[in-house]
Amino acid sequence: MMSSEKDNWRLAYHLMPPDGWLNDPNGLCQANGMYHIYFQYAPNTPAPDGRMARTWGHYAGPDLVHLQFEGVPFWPETADRDGCYSGSAVVHDGEIDLFYTGNIKHTGDYDYIRDGRESNTILVKTRDGKKYGEKKVLFGTKDYPEHCTRHVRDPKVWQEDGVWYMVLGARMDDDSGALLFYESGNLIDWKLLKIVSTAKPFGYMWECPDYFTVGGQSVISLCPQGVESEEFRYENLYQAGYFPVSGDLRGAQSFKPFREWDFGFDFYAPQTFEDENGRRILIGWSGMPDHPYENPTAERGWENALTVPRLLGLRGGVVTQMPVPELKELRTKEQLINPEGKLLLSYAAGDVEVRFPEYRFIETGSWKIEIGDGVCLSYFNQILTLNMSGKAGRGRVERRVRAEKITDARLLIDRSMLEFYFNGGEIVMTSHYFPELKEDSQLEVRFDCSGAEITAWEMKPLPVNEQYF
Ligand code: FRU
Repeated sequence: MMSSEKDNWRLAYHLMPPDGWLNDPNGLCQANGMYHIYFQYAPNTPAPDGRMARTWGHYAGPDLVHLQFEGVPFWPETADRDGCYSGSAVVHDGEIDLFYTGNIKHTGDYDYIRDGRESNTILVKTRDGKKYGEKKVLFGTKDYPEHCTRHVRDPKVWQEDGVWYMVLGARMDDDSGALLFYESGNLIDWKLLKIVSTAKPFGYMWECPDYFTVGGQSVISLCPQGVESEEFRYENLYQAGYFPVSGDLRGAQSFKPFREWDFGFDFYAPQTFEDENGRRILIGWSGMPDHPYENPTAERGWENALTVPRLLGLRGGVVTQMPVPELKELRTKEQLINPEGKLLLSYAAGDVEVRFPEYRFIETGSWKIEIGDGVCLSYFNQILTLNMSGKAGRGRVERRVRAEKITDARLLIDRSMLEFYFNGGEIVMTSHYFPELKEDSQLEVRFDCSGAEITAWEMKPLPVNEQYF
């Protein structure tokens, strides 16, 4: 099926690839008023099999709703011939500097961990997001510190007190994950500042790092691979989360416990940026590498999506995430829903706010919300459960999170994607699901939430997605 045909799993208000495969958000920034959202992209090829070189795709717009697809900014050439991998942006003198990993895989009998692979850190500049300068290799495999394997990638760059910093994710040769911090005065010449890891290895590889401050709290965000699953934690194949850190970046720092960004089935490789209004915004990849479940949209020529942009805040040491307020511009047809009633979404895209009354926090307070036939979200005995064991889950079964109480929920339901936010964004769950939508694409949501106040809206598609409706 061509992606231009009517496809009721295509999303209304999430960014998805126009065709082909999408993974990590890259190069997030706002420059001269325009927002730029780049992403890992394999056009025409859903589910790349490792031979398909990834490049970047690009959306841009004056706000986070009116974005346009700008195509592919650059393609693999020499120093990135097997993939323009993930990276980030800084805005400097009105110019956008993009840093990314150029992936090279040599042909031969290699394990591609300790040998056979090169990772170049590359800089490419653009003033307008339309014309791009020459790619410049800043450093490469021979320049990384001793004891790194060939897995070093995903530069995130930022400025603090007049100094530029870069952090890269790495797998060390003792199979522990680590981060390499560099500093620079001119964005071209970089010097290693320090290597950061945990006292006890926490996974074998740390991908897609980020470092920022929100509400006065500094955090290191990263995606560790190889962390053992626990009950209620680390249930996905790879993790995405953060360590709150104290102390100065240039001196000794201590870490507080790691916390996952998201407890759903499909969330990975988030990146943040600060916009021109000083908001710290996070966008994640709604998807997962090497996942054990199915994404049947691949048969329709596309796979994965980005989460909505999330505004970050800080509450009691937890970084909260809520959809950026401008998403409400897409709301239409407001309805008050009976707490034991039903909501019918006319084309399976909605935004629901649930407020639980206070007495529920003291009693057992159980409640349940069912979406279509196959998704059940419930709260019982202080455990929040997302069950997707029906056909719509396509191999996704159950995720559980402990929560002392649930005060509120915001449910973003979008055709084949779900984002649930609880307690002002302290707990988030993102997943794909594939409901059997009929010709008319109606979806029923059933509530068993006695005493709760529920308001629901249908959601209009993002202008860039209108063509698919
Ligand atoms: C994370 C990741 C990155 C890499 C990119 C390649 O999903 O593996 O580490 O740069 O994807 O597409």
